[in-house]
Amino acid sequence: MQIHSSTRRSPVRSRAQLSPSVVRRSRVRAVLSAAVLTVVAVGVALGPSVLPADTIQARKQGLKALGSAFKVIRDELKSSAPDAGKIKAAGAGIAKAGKAIDAWFPAGTGPEAGVKTDAKAEIWSDAAGFATAREAFVREAAKSAQVFANGADTSAWSGAATALGQTCKGCHDKYRVKRD
Ligand code: HEC
Repeated sequence: MQIHSSTRRSPVRSRAQLSPSVVRRSRVRAVLSAAVLTVVAVGVALGPSVLPADTIQARKQGLKALGSAFKVIRDELKSSAPDAGKIKAAGAGIAKAGKAIDAWFPAGTGPEAGVKTDAKAEIWSDAAGFATAREAFVREAAKSAQVFANGADTSAWSGAATALGQTCKGCHDKYRVKRD
């Protein structure tokens, strides 16, 4: 067998004799790592913690909370003495949701999932447009949270709320099914 090079003294010969088995071993390694990758990919796609129904459920809850937080701000701004503490907390909550929203729309959680969802197929067929809408929201959420956290300038608050609301609408108009 060529592997036992210790019986052969010439380093040149033993290297030449070893190479076929080295090639064979690296090929086996390549096949094995491809298999491992496949298992990991399937696990990620089908794992029980990421069933489309679960993701859609979590997404709706997250968006509902986002809606409630935004309503707190709008309601406070309508009052004659807006509560700065409430506005600040709601703004921080919205900014936090901005960080999470990226994970709420994985492929396979659209209308094809067979679960009730208002997410349009365009979210995935127009992924670049959706990313633009999402990024506009994330940016505005962070910016407005700063305005809501600092000072008590109600007109600055109103401006931030309006700009933020436009990014919600910008996404909903294109990527969310309209309900009456
Ligand atoms: C990047 C896109 C996007 C942005 C930005 C966005 N939304 Fe939505 N929103 C959606 C989609 C899509 C749905 C439908 C989700 C579903 O049914 O699976 C939705 C659903 C909702 C719902 C209904 C949740 C439920 O109970 O089912 C509320 C409330 C909501 N959004 C509020 C907001 C508010 C308020 C903002 C801004 C502060 C906002 N959204 C920003 C895309 C977005």
